[in-house]
Amino acid sequence: MVTVRAPATSANLGSGYDVFGLALGRPADVIHVEAADETTITVEGVGSEYVPEDPRDNTVGAVADALDAPASITIDKGVRPSSGLGSSAASAAGAAVALDTLYGLQTDPEELVRVAAEGEAVVSGDAHADNVAPAILGGFTIVTPDGITTLEASLSLVACLPEIVVSTRDARAVVPSTLSIDDLVDTVGSAATLTAGIARDDPELVGQGMADTVVTPTRSALIDGYDEVREAARLAGATGVTVSGAGPAVLAVCREGTRRAVASAMVDAFADRGIESRAYQTNVGRGAEVV
Ligand code: HSE
Repeated sequence: MVTVRAPATSANLGSGYDVFGLALGRPADVIHVEAADETTITVEGVGSEYVPEDPRDNTVGAVADALDAPASITIDKGVRPSSGLGSSAASAAGAAVALDTLYGLQTDPEELVRVAAEGEAVVSGDAHADNVAPAILGGFTIVTPDGITTLEASLSLVACLPEIVVSTRDARAVVPSTLSIDDLVDTVGSAATLTAGIARDDPELVGQGMADTVVTPTRSALIDGYDEVREAARLAGATGVTVSGAGPAVLAVCREGTRRAVASAMVDAFADRGIESRAYQTNVGRGAEVV
């Protein structure tokens, strides 16, 4: 048996829609695999009732097929489905690493990202790799059609997950299909600033670079209380706040020493709207690893 811990991830970071991704220290999925003639999937843990166990409908089944690595697979969900924290990506990435190890395939890590992204397409309809790349490689990742660039990153983070469900399909449907040249200029400026901030471990620059006028406004409208939560987090010490992935989790980058205050401010602001939430105080994590 091989067991792998695969981290939650936050995609986009505002200006990097379908390009930027960040591995989080927590929460995480844990995947157990054992060699078998046919793939079977058992799902336990947070929100497991929403994850199909039929291998044809589960990201992990697609990964086992693509690697030609049938197995008896148990997914222990720590990352809630439909959270914006890369739940299906954590399972797909964990399964890819676990099956690769189980069968000694020694697949190139970028190829494993491609395989796990195909698994993602089963649930989101699109093979975007901005969650599976950091879930496998760790740190901060930049995904383009030409390949993946990784940067080590050190940031103090809060990912606040409200008890709201937003499906990735719905959240992709509200993204505008065109943008003005002014918005393009703003987005490129933000994305470049954010990347420089990551390279310099500078939370002020990262926060500045999370500004986005294109995707985030349409998506934040799907999250009740988003504006209030964002404001509360900023007042408590966050340099940047944005929708995590497709939402509804909200990601805050924090100044040194403010993470606890930012977490309570976000939870309180959701509570003021009558919404329960859980805030994960964390930092940038490693990729999926055998434990
Ligand atoms: N980049 C993707 C999106 C991540 O924002 O739709 C969600 O899976």
